[in-house]
Amino acid sequence: MTGPIAERIISPRIRRLKVVPPQVKPPDPGPLHPVRSLHLNESPFPPAPSVVEAMQHAAARINRYPDHDGGELVRALSARTGVAAERIVIGAGSNELLYASADIVLDPGHEAIAPHPGFPTYEKAISMRGGTYVGVPVRDDGSVDIAATLAAVTPKTRLVFVASPHNPTGGMLAKAYIERLVYELPDDVLLHFDEAYYEFGRHAGGVETLPILERRRGPWIATRSFSKAYGLAGIRVGYGLTNARELADAYRKVRVNFSVNAVALAGARAALDAGSHMQALLDHTAAERRRLAAALEGIGFEALPSAANFLTVRTPKPAPALAAALREENIFVLPFPWPGTPGAIRITIGSSEDTDAVAAAMARLLKAL
Ligand SMILES: Cc1ncc(COP(=O)(O)O)c(C=O)c1O
Repeated sequence: MTGPIAERIISPRIRRLKVVPPQVKPPDPGPLHPVRSLHLNESPFPPAPSVVEAMQHAAARINRYPDHDGGELVRALSARTGVAAERIVIGAGSNELLYASADIVLDPGHEAIAPHPGFPTYEKAISMRGGTYVGVPVRDDGSVDIAATLAAVTPKTRLVFVASPHNPTGGMLAKAYIERLVYELPDDVLLHFDEAYYEFGRHAGGVETLPILERRRGPWIATRSFSKAYGLAGIRVGYGLTNARELADAYRKVRVNFSVNAVALAGARAALDAGSHMQALLDHTAAERRRLAAALEGIGFEALPSAANFLTVRTPKPAPALAAALREENIFVLPFPWPGTPGAIRITIGSSEDTDAVAAAMARLLKAL
């Protein structure tokens, strides 16, 4: 909206936000150029039949409101993580909890730190709540720069977002860096440790972060997602493990009432028991990630080390032009700037056919551009 109405009633906090562009998805034109949706880090596979069945069962009772706190799901998560149920909070995707972190600690004048480039919700949530976003460049290998993050803390800092594995690079933090962050971040700063890609990180050999986080004296939340390794992006469920009941209560206070619907709760609960389904996805993802990296490195791309369900490559030709040319072939990827290079492209790991199609298209397009 522009003009006098926007000027009169929309808060400058909101006017300053970028408009979210509508998702471009052409109708599937058939087997010649199938749509390859490799820009949102979704699972390429449908959920396990037991999960679909649980959701169908819940759908038949949808005249009732859901359990706002997701008690059954939370108890199951508590049993799996060892974190007391009162310290666990659910959200409509882990996204809801990223916004909630900004809600519960930021007032105008406060600063919040997040890696750059990073998941766009960090900057949006900070700005929406009137805080000042402080972006800290990631390291060359794509992992979050912990030394620079700590150096960016000022007396006005109230919140630090960190992700491991990080999006859009896939970089994972080594244990020593997590420990340094946990011990050195001041106690009056909320540490939001974003683990949307947790299961992929563990599969790639990453450390279990909870025992390290538990040693922090100050407040922390680790958020995880059912959208990625559980393959349930469409139902929107995530959860947060916090250091104290009081902190979890603050999240419960600010959450939109009933934001996680009953079908989603049933699907997430069932997905926790569909372990072999997830294991197959994790194995597939690691194998295809290796295959895609080898194929693209062989033709001049530089792959960043990734522990997530995507691969990011620095490109020898302008990344936006490459991504646009791929889009013409119905292959959707995410281009973004990378200092000192023509850019980077993040490619979600899809099916084996997706890997072959991306590698072949990239080889063709590099010569043509
Ligand atoms: C780093 C990171 N954090 C959080 C999210 C949010 O995921 P969801 O809201 O689907 O749980 C994403 C999604 O892509 C992400 O990449």
